[in-house]
Amino acid sequence: MEVTNKLKDLVTRVEEGLERLVPTADTRPARLHSAMRYSLEAGGKRLRPALLLAVAELEPSKDRANPLPAAVALECLHTYSLIHDDLPCMDDDDLRRGRPTAHRQFDEATALLAGDALLTHAFALLAEAYADDPQLSHALIRELAITAGSQKLIGGQMEDLLGEAKSDASTEDLDYIHLNKTAAMIETALVMGGLVAGWSEERRVTLREAGRNLGLAFQIVDDILDVTSDTKTLGKTVGKDEATAKTTYVRLHGLGQSRVVVAERTQHAVAAFASLPGDSSFLQALARSMAERVK
Ligand code: IPE
Ligand code: IPE
Ligand code: MG
Ligand code: MG
Ligand code: MG
Repeated sequence: MEVTNKLKDLVTRVEEGLERLVPTADTRPARLHSAMRYSLEAGGKRLRPALLLAVAELEPSKDRANPLPAAVALECLHTYSLIHDDLPCMDDDDLRRGRPTAHRQFDEATALLAGDALLTHAFALLAEAYADDPQLSHALIRELAITAGSQKLIGGQMEDLLGEAKSDASTEDLDYIHLNKTAAMIETALVMGGLVAGWSEERRVTLREAGRNLGLAFQIVDDILDVTSDTKTLGKTVGKDEATAKTTYVRLHGLGQSRVVVAERTQHAVAAFASLPGDSSFLQALARSMAERVK
């Protein structure tokens, strides 16, 4: 229960940050800002910003920068990736976070632009909120830009699409997709927390190790839930991966083996968290709970 309460507390702070640091829905053009907020406010687990805050605040320190704008930037970027992921030319989904997808609620052009605007807003926030610490601002922007770029998030999304109905997809192809489209952002959430906390490169290597493992487990669970969950619980249409013959963990390894790998990766992530300074019990428990999530 301790974990649930702490997570709730972090999610509340993230949502207050989103409310404050994203233009209001009536800002001109209102249709665009309404669409940005529609997708942001639909909910979601807020895992990435929660991880960022948890790492940034692992060690009590009096002169640390405020991690909240970085957490909000990360959630804006993640939400953009979901809006675009759902577009008819990508995964063509009608439901996201329990609501009609942005292009269904508005239209394709508005969804495209709302995604573009959230992506750009993430970097504007990092540049503005940390302007009095240019070194930190630069490090955060660099980290997020590389992860959101063509050799990580977007590269993973490209190969995910190329992997549709690819009968000879290898486990190496699958790892490329999972590591880049999903694990990279989870790794970056932890690393951005470490950057705000002023941690050394050595500690950030441990964060990357934890993030890579947690991120892989997270995407494998996403693949599993697409097969085993139901649309109401998940808030997105199930069975889509099979319908489009995506290269997923379940397709290549089966459900049983996928679950074994989730447990192994989660164990690696927990061990990496345990080796960090400070009390990382929340991060360890959060990693375990993500392996057992139902949505
Ligand atoms: C969905 O991410 C996309 C993946 C990388 C699997 P989440 O499962 O974190 O989605 P929200 O933010 O909770 O809606
Ligand atoms: C999406 O992977 C990863 C992103 C970068 C958005 P999926 O396409 O499997 O995510 P869901 O299942 O639609 O949330
Ligand atoms: Mg996709
Ligand atoms: Mg999708
Ligand atoms: Mg999925």
